[in-house]
Amino acid sequence: MGLPLDGKEIILGVTGGIAAYKSCELVRGLRENGASVSVVMTRAACRFVSPLTFSALSGRDAETDIFASRGTMPHIDMTARADAFIIAPATANIIGKAASGIADDLLSTMLMAARCPTLFAPAMNCRMFDSPALRENLKKLRDRGVFFVGPEVGPMACGEFGPGRMSEPEDILRAAVSLFREKTLSGVRALVSAGPTYEDLDPVRFIGNRSTGRMGFAVAKEALSRGADVTLIYGPTALVPPSGVKAVAVRSAKEMAKAALEAFRDADLAIMAAAVSDFAPEKYSGSKIKKDGLQNYSLKLVKTPDILSAFGKDKKRWQAVVGFAAETDDIGPNALKKLKEKNADLIAANVIGEDTGFGGATNRLYIYDKKGLVTDTGLVSKDEAASRLLDAAAGLLRLKEIKSKGRPIK
Ligand code: CTP
Repeated sequence: MGLPLDGKEIILGVTGGIAAYKSCELVRGLRENGASVSVVMTRAACRFVSPLTFSALSGRDAETDIFASRGTMPHIDMTARADAFIIAPATANIIGKAASGIADDLLSTMLMAARCPTLFAPAMNCRMFDSPALRENLKKLRDRGVFFVGPEVGPMACGEFGPGRMSEPEDILRAAVSLFREKTLSGVRALVSAGPTYEDLDPVRFIGNRSTGRMGFAVAKEALSRGADVTLIYGPTALVPPSGVKAVAVRSAKEMAKAALEAFRDADLAIMAAAVSDFAPEKYSGSKIKKDGLQNYSLKLVKTPDILSAFGKDKKRWQAVVGFAAETDDIGPNALKKLKEKNADLIAANVIGEDTGFGGATNRLYIYDKKGLVTDTGLVSKDEAASRLLDAAAGLLRLKEIKSKGRPIK
């Protein structure tokens, strides 16, 4: 089998951010996967990493100056040959220039001339990432069909914490590979839920759980890269929704149920990766509950709506429903019981453990259909687990009917 990027010509634009050093690793990854890579650096990028480093890693002279070309027009020649254009790190400046059509150096000129798929990996301080100007620029680019990977939430070089860290090279590489992936789910409307729900007791306290949303976000990203229209309904999490999804932020199980049931009417595929609270306090106290005079305190909890069961009950012929089951014991019998009781088509079960389940970067999914185990992913990254889950879910879809718009609208 060939490599995923065999024969692909990729331009890697490097702009002036501290994450530029990580792009050295990206060049290696792209080449190891079969691509030929031409690196184009801005002046600021050269202050962080030497062009020599990129020349050595790519096996081609890194381009830095539009006027230093050897008798040709690099911005036209190189972009005409390119199969993909990656900007990593992409500073707020290059995002602003690309959005506004400013072409005042080699990289920005090439971006304007390029007609191939373009992928940005933003990297900047979290307050810059939150600025209205950047938000508008991201929207403009997204609306023009530009792809994004990241940024991630985490500690920044400046000491602050928030969204703005460039994605890891392996994640950028995965996003680059998915640019060339056949859009097998185009025309499919996917609803994905992710994260925990918080059930408020009073203005200070809530009942929550340990879900971080990573698994559900990975599923949403994977569905998007396969061409699906994705609605991501997510509970409180520090993660940034992948750009390109319709993101709906909710807090409680009740809010998630409302948003999910509404979105389900238009969905072909529903994947409930959220850790929805099974119970919520019967009453919400508008003022803080005080401990004065209390030796004990009992909380009355009532059941929340079971969203997956509602999907299972209402689903139409063309709708496929996938649930999750996080278990500590008897994973197989518990997963099959949930599948049957909730009338789901697939259940992805995982053991709550050190490397699997909540929080971590890895997971091991046991995917069941009515007849039993269909896939054991082994211990893999959550991205890989999401990909295997979508392979299984895609098998359920009546793609012909969906793509020919045979399914009734509403
Ligand atoms: N789920 C849901 N609505 C709820 C609770 C759970 O849609 N109110 C969904 C979850 O998103 C998941 C599946 O049901 O896809 C399994 O959830 P889980 O909490 O593990 O199972 P429960 O059926 O709630 O059973 P238990 O907690 O007893 O294991």
